[in-house]
This record gives sequence, structure tokens and C-alpha cells, in this order.
Amino acid sequence: MQLFLDTANLDEIQEIAAWGVLDGITTNPSLVVKEKRDFKKLVQEICKIVSGPVSAECVSEDLEGMLKEGRDIATWAENVVVKVPLTPAGLGACKQMSKDGIKVNVTLCFSVNQALLAARAGAYFVSPFVGRLDDINQDGSDLVSQIAEMYHIQALDTQVLAASIRTPMHVQQAALGGADACTMPFKVFKQLVSHPLTDAGLEKFLADWKSAKAAV
Ligand code: G3P
Repeated sequence: MQLFLDTANLDEIQEIAAWGVLDGITTNPSLVVKEKRDFKKLVQEICKIVSGPVSAECVSEDLEGMLKEGRDIATWAENVVVKVPLTPAGLGACKQMSKDGIKVNVTLCFSVNQALLAARAGAYFVSPFVGRLDDINQDGSDLVSQIAEMYHIQALDTQVLAASIRTPMHVQQAALGGADACTMPFKVFKQLVSHPLTDAGLEKFLADWKSAKAAV
């Protein structure tokens, strides 16, 4: 499973990129506005730091506007992926752009049938929102594994990108459920590496090393 950061913050991206395990970035309008930067320039800077897929979202709601915006976004960098919402206009835009070789991430997916539509529209990624389903007392992680299973049965190529990730447990469940990628906030990415026994073990190793050195 590829590991993506769900942020538009350059400091966060640089910090995790240095770990050597960052496969891509997803942004959305809410994350972009927080940075108070020119959208295009920001996305281009992100695309220079991370060579994998970087999703940038259209804000038009109609097919024509989404196509115009998406086709422009697709020219910003080689690794940019155009993000559209899972609406009739989003599906239409996805179909046309994917025919032209543009990679599209269909976002705001909350059901297996929506994921089927995204795949039939030629989506490169579909983004099921785990946390927002959990918020309404439905199992978001279960949706991720159901979509992965349905794509396998139907031999559909669209990659499942688990999104709206709130906890390390969501990441683990996405990986075990067959997601192709998982995008998570900076805080959750950092939680993945932490374990109290790793810290305690390292502390003991180094203390033993130092005391042995001191005895020589
Ligand atoms: O990738 C989608 C994500 O940004 C939404 O997350 O936590 O706002 O539901 P959240």
C-alpha cells in the first residue's frame, strides 16, 4: 500500500519526505486555503518535492467548468492528479479527462456503487472517506475492503485510495483490507513510526553502549 500525506503544508511534506517512504500527496480545497498561497504555485512546489502522484481538486460544480479547470491543473506538473467529486458532473469530467490520458482521483466516495461508477468512468484513484463514515456510525474501513474486493472481482484497474483517515488503526485496516494507497494527516503519519518499546529498547541499547565504553 502506498503511503500519502493529506496536506498542502510544505513543512509537513518536507519532513515526511525525508523518511524516504512518502509515495504521494492529496490536497483538497479546505487544506489548500489554510496555506494562504497561490494554488497553482503551491501545487507545483509540492510536485517538485514529491515525485509520486499529487492530487489537486477542481472547485467547479458543472461538467464544463470542471473539464476546463481539470485540463488546466493537468498541465501544472507531470505528477499532478486531477481530483473531482463523485457527482454526475465529476463522473463525466473523469470519463473525458481519462480518455485524454489525464489521471483522475474521484473523491468523496461513500459507497461501493459510487466506487463502481468511478471505475467505469476511468478513475485512476477512487477515494473512500473512512473517518466521515465512522462519524455517522458506519464502518468506513469496511467500505475500503468492500471496494477493493469488488474491483478485484470485476477486474477493474482503479486504485483504492483510503482517505479521511483519522487514526493509525484506520491505516492498518486499509492495508489489511487491500487498499492500494492510504492518505493521512501529518499527525497520523508520525504516529505510524512511534512505539514505546522502540523508544525504551533504543534507550537501553545506547545506555549499555555508553557504560561499556566508559569502562574501557
Ligand atoms: O482526503 C480527504 C480528507 O482530507 C478528508 O478528511 O478528516 O476532513 O474527513 P477529513
